[in-house]
Amino acid sequence: MISRNDAVKFFVTLAFLTATVVSLPSSPDRFLKSTSTYLRSPDEPQEYEELRLPLPSDHLTPSCSHVLLRHSFANTINGPPFTAPYTPPSGCTSPPWSYVVLDLRAASSGDQYDRISALWLGGVELLRTSTAEPSPSGIFWNVRKDVSRYSSLFMRADLNVTMMLENIVNDVYTGIYHINVTLIFYEFNPIASNLKVNSRLGFVESQRSDKTPADLIIPVCDEGNRGFWFMIDNSAETYSKRIQMPSNTRRIVLELYVSFHGDDEFWYSNPPTSYIRTNNLVTGRGNGAYREVFVKIDGRYVGSEVPFPVIFTGGTNPLFWEPVVAIGAFNLPSYDMDLTPFLSLLLDGKSHEFALGISDGISYWLVDANLHLWLDHGSLNVEAGSRFYDSPSRCMVRQEEFEQLDGSFRVEAEVHSEYDGWARSSKDNLTTMVKSMFKIGSLVRFEGNGTYKRVEQRVETKRIVEVTSDTGNPVNRVVHQRTYPLTVITSTLRGLTNDKDRYMLVTNVSHALNETHSDGEALTQVFNRQDSEGWMEVEDHNVLAGEASTRQRLSYIDEFSCYSHTIVAANGEIAQDSSSDSCTSSSSSEDNTFTSLS
Ligand SMILES: *[C@@H]1O[C@H](CO)[C@@H](O)[C@H](O)[C@H]1NC(C)=O
Ligand SMILES: *[C@@H]1O[C@H](CO)[C@@H](O)[C@H](O)[C@H]1NC(C)=O
Ligand SMILES: *[C@@H]1O[C@H](CO)[C@@H](O)[C@H](O)[C@H]1NC(C)=O
Ligand SMILES: *[C@@H]1O[C@H](CO)[C@@H](O)[C@H](O)[C@H]1NC(C)=O
Ligand SMILES: *[C@@H]1O[C@H](CO)[C@@H](O)[C@H](O)[C@H]1NC(C)=O
Ligand SMILES: *[C@@H]1O[C@H](CO)[C@@H](O)[C@H](O)[C@H]1NC(C)=O
Repeated sequence: MISRNDAVKFFVTLAFLTATVVSLPSSPDRFLKSTSTYLRSPDEPQEYEELRLPLPSDHLTPSCSHVLLRHSFANTINGPPFTAPYTPPSGCTSPPWSYVVLDLRAASSGDQYDRISALWLGGVELLRTSTAEPSPSGIFWNVRKDVSRYSSLFMRADLNVTMMLENIVNDVYTGIYHINVTLIFYEFNPIASNLKVNSRLGFVESQRSDKTPADLIIPVCDEGNRGFWFMIDNSAETYSKRIQMPSNTRRIVLELYVSFHGDDEFWYSNPPTSYIRTNNLVTGRGNGAYREVFVKIDGRYVGSEVPFPVIFTGGTNPLFWEPVVAIGAFNLPSYDMDLTPFLSLLLDGKSHEFALGISDGISYWLVDANLHLWLDHGSLNVEAGSRFYDSPSRCMVRQEEFEQLDGSFRVEAEVHSEYDGWARSSKDNLTTMVKSMFKIGSLVRFEGNGTYKRVEQRVETKRIVEVTSDTGNPVNRVVHQRTYPLTVITSTLRGLTNDKDRYMLVTNVSHALNETHSDGEALTQVFNRQDSEGWMEVEDHNVLAGEASTRQRLSYIDEFSCYSHTIVAANGEIAQDSSSDSCTSSSSSEDNTFTSLS
């Protein structure tokens, strides 16, 4: 229990990343926790974490583990990524492994910003992650991810492992990020196993609809000199790669990886540029609050996503994210698009242009994709035909009204698309129908002469993949839904003292990532929600004092099992932590433990 009286007041100094003056303090920004004025300084390194569902492997003995890389990222800015040749594990029971987990361990101490990072094998992205900001006594964390879907890569001996983590180390920024990445192989098959409680956990995250990993994975990526991601800094440009499909491809799924930075790090809270110009504000964070990542093949739209708004550990109020980071900060979600209906376009023996771009995007986005291909092992050629291609129907309404610094900006958008195509392999002739829909509602409102800012965003996405045989019988139906509501409130209170540069920033963040996945009869649901509140006393971009707390609840339900985990972090420490795998609801006991800091 934390009350205002026993809360440890601690002191931090913040500095903005750039020297640019942001005229409106009530805009979310990226901060550095400078540790020189920390009062709370634990003697021991502190563990950070992102709440995740248990993996089946948490309770199993691996058949072997294999170090992918060990590297310290010091002053790596403007340099090439870290690269090392990959060798398949030796002394491990023979492949194929049914289950593979990527284990990343990181440690750092000193002063440092949060940094974005990614790990690739042969240009195929395995993990998008970001770092936590360290303290003088040090911090460390562990990320574990089911990477079984990339299994076909782990047997190859002709690939490089690549990790990009641009960092600055000098007199001011001293934190070096020490990273170890290990692959852990299991013989056990989580689907066939009768391990009831944990057997199905983690599968919603990977959106796996074809239970066996792809035979081949081809990256849609950059050359790799600066990491394999494309750096996209405006909405006009798309980045592309020409790819030729094997002629016996029978199924294809594109997996999109994306993160947003610079003037678009908080894109969901950006006002229109007209507001910034009219008020002569000095900020590049404009272009409104709507973004869409799209995929095109040969110039034709095949899918898009409004990404989940991941908040990095320096974002909005850095005190919120210690030691429990924001949803997705250590393991950013990726997005699957089933492109099987487009096989007729792709199986002509020619190469095709896969392009990625950001509608309304400004500097900068890091985007790439993996094509997961399932091949027909019984023939050299798959025949495919398209039955239905409807260019997406979209409607969008934007409303803006403002007078000087106050006003509100709304975006409502809805996008629907539907594709249908068949692929005849040596075994069968299957028709795949893909329907996708997303809806977004966004509001950015300024009050009190721009000192109060409220951001509300709600995104709902739904994808249906239906496979039928040539006699019209249903073979499989998968429905994947995600909802992510977000509320960010920043309120600037002036006049605490006579000093006009000194003010108090009160910030609230509340966000969730809820997912429902149904595969035939099997339904799985994941609810993940964080509520943070706190304040900072700021002078000249330095925070003199602050208090913050974050409450998170992660829960999972399927037909056999339940799991839930509740954690409360307050002022840098865990105040409550409990988990349960019982299916009886305990929701009544949870609400008293979260005491408001107001
Ligand atoms: C990485 O592995 C080395 C060797 O086992 C170990 O000394 C080091 O502490 C590890 N680093 C992290 C961040 O876990
Ligand atoms: C692996 O990296 C090395 C060094 O950067 C490079 O010379 C080599 O061509 C790369 N190999 C592959 C398969 O990309
Ligand atoms: C609103 O804020 C601007 C800039 O901070 C200031 O110049 C102006 O006087 C304020 N207006 C009122 C009515 O307080
Ligand atoms: C495969 O099935 C679809 C839909 O039933 C049909 O239109 C198509 O002609 C079939 N293709 C072949 C090669 O049989
Ligand atoms: C932040 O949330 C708390 C608790 O829900 C509420 O009391 C407070 O008014 C909110 N702050 C702002 C600035 O809206
Ligand atoms: C997400 O799940 C949580 C927990 O069940 C629930 O409180 C919240 O309303 C859900 N949000 C949406 C948008 O479905």
